[in-house]
Amino acid sequence: MSALSDHTFEGIRQLMHGIVGLSFADAKKPLVASRLAPRIARLGLERYEDYLALIERDGAGGELQVAIDLLTTNETYFFREPRHFELLERELGDQRPAQVRVWSAASSYGDEAYSVAMLLADLEQAGRLGPDWRITATDVSDRVLKSAVEGVYPADRLREVTPARLKRYCLRGDGDAEGLVMVQPTLRRRVQFGYLNLTQAFGDWGPFDAVFLRNVLIYFDAATKAAVAQRVLGALRPGGLFFIGTAEGRIAGVQGLTAIAPGAFRKTG
Ligand SMILES: C[S@@+](CC[C@H](N)C(=O)[O-])C[C@H]1O[C@@H](n2cnc3c(N)ncnc32)[C@H](O)[C@@H]1O
Repeated sequence: MSALSDHTFEGIRQLMHGIVGLSFADAKKPLVASRLAPRIARLGLERYEDYLALIERDGAGGELQVAIDLLTTNETYFFREPRHFELLERELGDQRPAQVRVWSAASSYGDEAYSVAMLLADLEQAGRLGPDWRITATDVSDRVLKSAVEGVYPADRLREVTPARLKRYCLRGDGDAEGLVMVQPTLRRRVQFGYLNLTQAFGDWGPFDAVFLRNVLIYFDAATKAAVAQRVLGALRPGGLFFIGTAEGRIAGVQGLTAIAPGAFRKTG
């Protein structure tokens, strides 16, 4: 197969930026090439140019979605950045709200959403939260959403889950499923997964009591970052909690947030 030319890399980069907001630096060219190469070979194409032409022609069709699936970075695990979960637990436990709605806004395989579900289920069991709680989890990759609904994970992804929670909310596989863990159906029913592109207007959505927008802004340029954060904030109720990845720093140009901990903010007004 021929190499990925600068010109074609630019075409792929612009297409991905326009559709899902992804911003690939020049240094990411080898990464883009290696992620697409097996798919291009499988389709029997010889050149990246042909693949770009295919996904450009494709519009909203299947191959474009495959490219999005391949070019998004989906790394995640249960209870990643545990301070955020502790903060949410303290906040909800103190307030004892009658109803709670949480949004995992770039949910990847669902680890974050199910972590929140374990936490809320524990609060309910302890009598610190009523039974009316739900989690909405969205992503732009069909592939991760399908897997998230199934709720099956390599055990290592649950390394931060306490033994008590593993026992209460998970089933360990054996035989062919050795090394895999399945989230219990009772917990899975609390999480609704769906497709949502954060870079496009999503109309009436929310209000949520807490939003996790973690480890996704990092893939956007500054303007997209601010626009996405502002749009997501519109779905958070005043006083609600807003989380971004701790490594993502502050979000320039976003109004109506007070910082309360690294990567954690409260919506003002
Ligand atoms: C690194 S994962 C973060 C998962 C989880 N929030 C966490 O912190 O562990 C980033 C996710 O953002 C998703 N994503 C990228 N661009 C998106 C967009 N425009 N709209 C919605 N999700 C997007 C990717 O598909 C990927 O699953």
